[in-house]
Amino acid sequence: MNRIAIYPGSFDPVTNGHLDILRRGLRLFDRVIVAILINPGKESLFPVPERVAMLEESTKDIRNVEIDTFNGLLVDYAAQRKAHAILRGMRAISDFEYEFQLAMMNRKLNREIQTVFLMTGFRWIFTSSSIIKEAARFGGDVDDMVPPAVSRRLKEKFGGGAESA
Ligand code: PNS
Repeated sequence: MNRIAIYPGSFDPVTNGHLDILRRGLRLFDRVIVAILINPGKESLFPVPERVAMLEESTKDIRNVEIDTFNGLLVDYAAQRKAHAILRGMRAISDFEYEFQLAMMNRKLNREIQTVFLMTGFRWIFTSSSIIKEAARFGGDVDDMVPPAVSRRLKEKFGGGAESA
């Protein structure tokens, strides 16, 4: 049986923590579809096509991965892609409440699709796209937290130095 998981998120931008979850997910599923939510209501640093490009470049050596975008309800997209599960990463306890709400709502909306949580590797427990963006904006070195495709673009955006106030 071809077991498919959807790994949804904003991926603004993809981090090494995301890639860690993706690799762990591929040990459980035959194929993982990384799905970027198109959400015009949420302010983002990178436009969706650039987020797709960064994900494609960062996963080019990983087999059985597809990068896609979606809008609307996640469970509808998952059903349309014939996925069995939604994959989400769990870092610290602080993630739990939001993830629990999301999973319960998704289960209410479609009982056939299971949410699977995976723990990130210990070294990624305190990383997030938001904190990485903030550090990069003010000239912090985040090279060991993001793939090269992201590091390059962050430097292009912020010039590799502190942003003037
Ligand atoms: O990376 P994020 O921002 O934590 O990802 C959140 C995401 C994209 C998984 C979530 O916002 C989502 O699935 N949005 C689509 C709309 C939806 O189905 N929401 C959940 C039930 S109301």
